[in-house]
Amino acid sequence: MTPDLFAEPPQPASVAERAAELRAQLHHHAHLYYTLDAPKIPDAEYDRLFQELQAIEAQHPELMTPDSPTQRVGGAILKALAPVRHAVPMLSIRTETDTEASGAAAFDARVRRELGLAEADPPVEYLAELKFDGLAMSLRYEQGVLVRAATRGDGETGEDVTHNVRTIGQIPLRLPNDVPEVLEVRGEVYMRRDQFEALNERQREKIAQGAKGEKTFVNPRNAAAGAVRQLDSRIARERPLSFFAYSWGEVVGDESPPATQYDWLMRLKAWGFPVAEQTAVCRGADELVAFHRRIGEQRDALPYDIDGVVYKVNSLDTQKRLGFVTREPRWAVAHKYPAQEQLTTVQAIDVQVGRTGKLTPVAKLAPVFVGGVTVTNATLHNELEARRKDVRVGDTVIVRRAGDVIPEVVSVVLPSVQPEPVEGASREGLRPFDKLRTGQAQPERGEPFTMPAHCPVCGSDAVREEGEADHRCTGGLFCAAQRKQAILHYAQRRAVDIEGLGDKLVEQLVDSGLIKTLPDLYKLGLTALAGLERMAEKSAQNVLDALQKRRETTLPRLLFGLGIRHVGEATAKDLSRHFGSLDRIMDASVDELLQVNDVGPVVAQSIRTFFEQEHNREVVEQLRAAGVHWPENEGEHNTPQPLLGKTFVLTGTFPTLKREDAKAMLEAAGAKVAGSVSKKTDYVVAGEEAGSKLDKARELGVAVIDEAAMLALLQPDA
Ligand code: IVH
Repeated sequence: MTPDLFAEPPQPASVAERAAELRAQLHHHAHLYYTLDAPKIPDAEYDRLFQELQAIEAQHPELMTPDSPTQRVGGAILKALAPVRHAVPMLSIRTETDTEASGAAAFDARVRRELGLAEADPPVEYLAELKFDGLAMSLRYEQGVLVRAATRGDGETGEDVTHNVRTIGQIPLRLPNDVPEVLEVRGEVYMRRDQFEALNERQREKIAQGAKGEKTFVNPRNAAAGAVRQLDSRIARERPLSFFAYSWGEVVGDESPPATQYDWLMRLKAWGFPVAEQTAVCRGADELVAFHRRIGEQRDALPYDIDGVVYKVNSLDTQKRLGFVTREPRWAVAHKYPAQEQLTTVQAIDVQVGRTGKLTPVAKLAPVFVGGVTVTNATLHNELEARRKDVRVGDTVIVRRAGDVIPEVVSVVLPSVQPEPVEGASREGLRPFDKLRTGQAQPERGEPFTMPAHCPVCGSDAVREEGEADHRCTGGLFCAAQRKQAILHYAQRRAVDIEGLGDKLVEQLVDSGLIKTLPDLYKLGLTALAGLERMAEKSAQNVLDALQKRRETTLPRLLFGLGIRHVGEATAKDLSRHFGSLDRIMDASVDELLQVNDVGPVVAQSIRTFFEQEHNREVVEQLRAAGVHWPENEGEHNTPQPLLGKTFVLTGTFPTLKREDAKAMLEAAGAKVAGSVSKKTDYVVAGEEAGSKLDKARELGVAVIDEAAMLALLQPDA
């Protein structure tokens, strides 16, 4: 193709093609990113494609389609949510109240009886799924395009929340061509626990900065329900939600209807919907019991809340035979786990001192079984939160413990207040409150919580900086609490890993005055150690051996072990890789620190401040003097980046390099590798059978080079 210099600017036909191409690419990459968690292009490249599409749609509004990824961003603010009548009602499931294994056996026995099966008949096949603790959603696709998302409501009529659901990256806006002409996909919208914690952290900061009308959320389910029902979709977008598909509603024009629940889920997965990987086919009650137990063990490690598992008869024919009782199918049951929220009373409010001096009010509770463990302490986060929730000694409170997250006091339940059920919340969720109605006398309420003016451990001033939520002890390593935490942090497995140096021992070492700073650890002798209460000579020797063994460590471990605020394990690794030596990190400027992967201004400043403190530099010197050592190297900080700021596009097959390798080499040299050619492209590297990208490059006058020329550009002195 010869470029025609006098050609008109691209005609709408080709703009339309480009828009369609961009939409297809963005759908593909959104699926890889949100649902499969395996992105193939850098975020910046996704953003670039996105912006290109936005620009086209702004210039040619007629090219806009409802399934365009740009529609995820949100726009107009609604006055109210419109009611939506479900074509097929959204049912609920009967709950097996017995949280023990026998609950599964009871369900299996019922199913077998209903089906008239004898004991000798083969086991019934079930599909066992997770019971997600979010809110049910019906997604309606017509000709493969998402046209409506509705909440469950009362099961007959829900609310139109399409504008908010479009912001959920995991929900496809368009489906492959082979889907039925009408398809309602049903499943659960939920918020991941880490997203929930981060959202509440952001909310606490806003509150600390004096924002009006902001609050923290009780649990991920309420946060998700609130986000989904927003009238302004920009608010929903700031509260990241996820989705799991598990069912379907109206389906029209299905050419190959599946025979089982399992096959349905697999086809939903193939069409791009997230389906939980734990889903399992189980035969008979024993396998259901095993599933319930196995998932129970994994529950804390899952990134989201579940309140049980669901068993469904796998065969859809058998489901039909079993039918319904009122709103509940006979072929399904929910089998619960112990609740993650419970009621208890506050016996005292203590203030704990963290490693970096943060003072945290902690409620001491009457022991209560929550989320599978007995809880006696729950965090109140900070003074503002404790006062906003108005938690006082003597109060009845809701505690929540989910996953590995520290238990927290969610709210106070005053005797006169009847909790409002939240849409999407199960009725069983209200059970704990029944205790309040038994007419027990409420104990006297204590005073509202105030943070003490001095650190409860060392007596130094406790201060809260402007705009910060937390009070801090100003004592630094003078404060025994901070010293203990600092030593435990240094000795933990992920840091310098000193076996045997646990809570109790560190407590004794600090309280007895044997240890004031980290390097003192290496001055410990057998007599002093063995002189401590409950310390046998043998264990004292073991601790000394462990210290000796770990005199040889690694830079990332040591750096993490120093306990610099905001420097976690991953950052310590990035810093070590980049700089190669501790001295270079200690002397790095904020700007130099900002060059490191994932290091932002807050982290950079924190590192800088830490090493500006003379006593911290001394700690490092003394550790070295005590014989602590680690390998150092050049680091990657001075790897030459001859192609910084250049954009490349690769096309065709290269004589020696694979495409990914070429891309990696270019990126290592600082270049950006883009997926399509534009005026901003500096070079197109063309191999055999290069296609339209080569034409486009010629059309735009972009330099076209071959593999050899690219390799030459990669030379540092090129
Ligand atoms: S199936 C006919 N499967 O539990 C059955 N529901 O009371 C229709 N839920 O409102 C629902 N995980 O929000 C089904 N794997 C799962 C589920 C699930 C959570 C929720 C859903 C529904 C409630 C049923």
